[in-house]
Amino acid sequence: MPDYREVYEHHADRYDALVSHEDHEGNLPRALFELVGPGPFDVVETGAGTGRLTRLIAPRARSLHAFDGAAAMIAVAQQSLPQVRWGVALHDALPVPDASADLALEGWAFGHALGWNPEGWREDLRRWVTELERIVRPGGTLVLFETMGTGVETPFAGGHSLEPFHAFVTAELGFSHRALRTDYAFETVESAAQALGFFFGERLVTRVRHHQWTQVPECTGLYWRTRG
Ligand SMILES: C[S@@+](CC[C@H](N)C(=O)[O-])C[C@H]1O[C@@H](n2cnc3c(N)ncnc32)[C@H](O)[C@@H]1O
Repeated sequence: MPDYREVYEHHADRYDALVSHEDHEGNLPRALFELVGPGPFDVVETGAGTGRLTRLIAPRARSLHAFDGAAAMIAVAQQSLPQVRWGVALHDALPVPDASADLALEGWAFGHALGWNPEGWREDLRRWVTELERIVRPGGTLVLFETMGTGVETPFAGGHSLEPFHAFVTAELGFSHRALRTDYAFETVESAAQALGFFFGERLVTRVRHHQWTQVPECTGLYWRTRG
């Protein structure tokens, strides 16, 4: 598997090109807006990367602050979303006031804690969720997205390193949950193999070529909690 920090610092364009092929059926925005309603919202996003989720939310946002720890990711995001207030910040300390958002969210960022901090990831997640809770107004919503497997048609088929994330946020942190399909679509099998191999490694490339996939199945978890 690649060094993800290296990807975020030095290959933000390539990452952005990869995620532009994801969720070709539009299940992600459909599920998100079914959950939170049509808006408009004051939104804060952490781990926003190159703006994949930010782009979906922007048309329904009254205000939108988006942060990421990697300046190179934000530099790419800013090109297509200049109206968003971008900043470099870590999940721990988002520079926004208490109770200032209707929606605070992250996608595919908190799950890195399991690989990057194997001993302390649960504490990381508790701290980061507490920070989102601080930002959200009473009655507002915290949303997390995380993978449940790429190259699989059912969540965690064959096992996945992020199963403990799912168990922890649902059982310990009190998030509700639903699973979505966020399949990728590519022009050719070879372009699928190249784009996905860069981020997911050789095992997935082998599966893509074996199945001759131009559409690559993926399962994603949508997790949410309302601030009381
Ligand atoms: C898989 S990318 C997801 C990006 C974006 N949310 C998306 O959906 O494409 C993970 C992102 O989390 C950011 N990240 C990881 N740890 C972070 C932290 N502790 N604080 C802020 N950002 C972090 C990385 O820089 C990277 O941009």
